[in-house]
Amino acid sequence: MKELERVINIQEKQIKSDFLTLSDFSSEEIFYLLEEAVYLKKLQKNRIAHPFLQGKVLGMIFEKSSTRTRVSFEVGMYQLGGQALYLHANDLQLGRGETIHDTAKVLSRYLDGIMIRTFEHEKVVELAEYASIPVINGLTDLHHPAQVLADLLTIYEHKGKLQGLKMCYVGDGNNNVCHSLLEGAAKVGMNISVASPATHQPDEKVVKTALNIANETGSIIHIGEDPFEMIQDADVVVTDVFVSMGQEKEAEEKRQKFTSYQVNESLCKYAKSDYIFLHCLPAHRGEEVSAEIIDGPHSVVFDEAENRLHAQKSILKNLL
Ligand code: CP
Ligand code: NVA
Repeated sequence: MKELERVINIQEKQIKSDFLTLSDFSSEEIFYLLEEAVYLKKLQKNRIAHPFLQGKVLGMIFEKSSTRTRVSFEVGMYQLGGQALYLHANDLQLGRGETIHDTAKVLSRYLDGIMIRTFEHEKVVELAEYASIPVINGLTDLHHPAQVLADLLTIYEHKGKLQGLKMCYVGDGNNNVCHSLLEGAAKVGMNISVASPATHQPDEKVVKTALNIANETGSIIHIGEDPFEMIQDADVVVTDVFVSMGQEKEAEEKRQKFTSYQVNESLCKYAKSDYIFLHCLPAHRGEEVSAEIIDGPHSVVFDEAENRLHAQKSILKNLL
């Protein structure tokens, strides 16, 4: 029985860590997660088994649709020797009004981690507060940090560095991907400029957080309205859908407002000649990006999609 007590003590002492936003992590921790992603990618490419999470189970709660996030987290858990459960919110009592508090407490008794994709960011924060197991943000209305970790990995692979590069995000600034890019770029010392209409600029609190991080790392952040000005000499050009999940009612209005924010040849002429183009996908050709750009020689969107798998395996290995 003495032995058992020792094991219990060790378990109680472990501090759980969540993955809710990139600003929760130090620059060193983000670089470490990226290094681990490179390592895990190598193991997988060389078909070397890496069952670091044998016996572990990840629950994946979805309140919104997903192709990449669902498949990459699920496959990632299998490759790490564990298992993943797909839990659609409508099939859980959560969808019938059971509280986040009770859901967090109950799931913590069965699982080793929870990945959640939902609407309000506060829901993920609340889930993490009451869960005794790590909670991973698989996209909220405010942030998409797992996506941006994969984006940083993709940029690093194509450019050989992150620090000092210039990224330009064009489109809806008040957007989960844009918000996580602001924090992620600032953390790794990359410069970032955002071009979006005055009515759809990034969330003020997120910008403030990113500026504070940038103060420490030396990143330069510009927020503006003119895409031609913002994209000057960019190494990395990024966009995302004009209408995010949950914004269907504003779709028509947004599409009209964003017509001059399409990433196309005439805009990208002002980026560096060897710029790379990123898009988290799904994409709408002819809306936020022209087909010639997303299907053209500068586009690395499928490397980016693949890197969701490797970046998330790094998160899973280090949190679970
Ligand atoms: N980029 C991304 O999160 O894709 P899914 O919505 O398909 O998961
Ligand atoms: N901003 C998009 C990202 C999709 C992965 C959305 O929230 O729908």
